[in-house]
Amino acid sequence: MIFYFTGTGNSLYAAKKLAKKGERLIDMAAALKSGETTYIVPTGETVGFVFPVYCFTVNDVVYDFAGSLDLIGAEYVYAVVTCGGDPFNAGGVLKKRLAERGIVLSRSFKLMMPDNSMLFYDIHPEKAPEILRKADKKLNVIRYLVSHRKERKVSGGCMEKPFRAVYHLVCSTKGFHAEDSCIGCGLCARVCPVGAIEMRGGRPEWVKDKCVKCSACICRCPQQAVQFGKRTKGRNRYVNPVLK
Ligand SMILES: Cc1cc2nc3c(=O)[nH]c(=O)nc-3n(C[C@H](O)[C@H](O)[C@H](O)COP(=O)(O)O)c2cc1C
Ligand code: SF4
Ligand code: SF4
Repeated sequence: MIFYFTGTGNSLYAAKKLAKKGERLIDMAAALKSGETTYIVPTGETVGFVFPVYCFTVNDVVYDFAGSLDLIGAEYVYAVVTCGGDPFNAGGVLKKRLAERGIVLSRSFKLMMPDNSMLFYDIHPEKAPEILRKADKKLNVIRYLVSHRKERKVSGGCMEKPFRAVYHLVCSTKGFHAEDSCIGCGLCARVCPVGAIEMRGGRPEWVKDKCVKCSACICRCPQQAVQFGKRTKGRNRYVNPVLK
């Protein structure tokens, strides 16, 4: 059983590569929305959490899902934190949150993936194929370690409060807008994991003050019509091939 969250596909890509034949992949955003937070782990299965780091911490969907999870029969629980550079201690934050539910996180892995942080600076999607090749090798190692249930102490979520405070500062949706090149396809609204976008009069509107800042709306728009303030115009977008 693998719980995943993804904005631009990296974490779904990793979750799919880690999943054994028939293993269930559960989208944490959809599960949280529908209130499905109780799971019975099939005998002999491991439990994975695969998600991106944001601002060195865990986003609110993963945080809230982990904080409301009832996991029955879990023997070995691991995390794979996908990142563009440094996940810092996101695994530790998840560990603490899961501990509140009586769930032990036995190991947390860092997985370098193409960076999708284009809301903050320009990114380099042309480097993605090479990064994904290296990620595939690391995923093989993770698969091996998970199947042998290898444990390693996950250090606690130090600096959790300041990083979560910084993260929450960047979560404002004020600044998102669609340019005239928008064709009204509605993809941005469909892919938003927290329902922050609604189509009104054939154009997207950001209807919540805050979102999780996953970058899906801005990176996945086929017209590159979504912008955040003035700073994202002309910047590269990134979408993992698993979503194409
Ligand atoms: C709002 C935001 C904050 C991010 N913060 C970090 C970070 O602190 N450290 C890091 O290494 N990568 C950071 N990233 C990059 C993503 O974690 C990375 O590209 C991830 O693999 C994206 O996963 P996804 O495609 O499954 O959404 C950030 C991305 C976004 C959108
Ligand atoms: S994804 Fe882009 S083109 Fe489609 S509705 Fe949203 S802004 Fe418009
Ligand atoms: S509004 Fe855009 S960046 Fe924010 S959560 Fe929705 S899809 Fe992600």
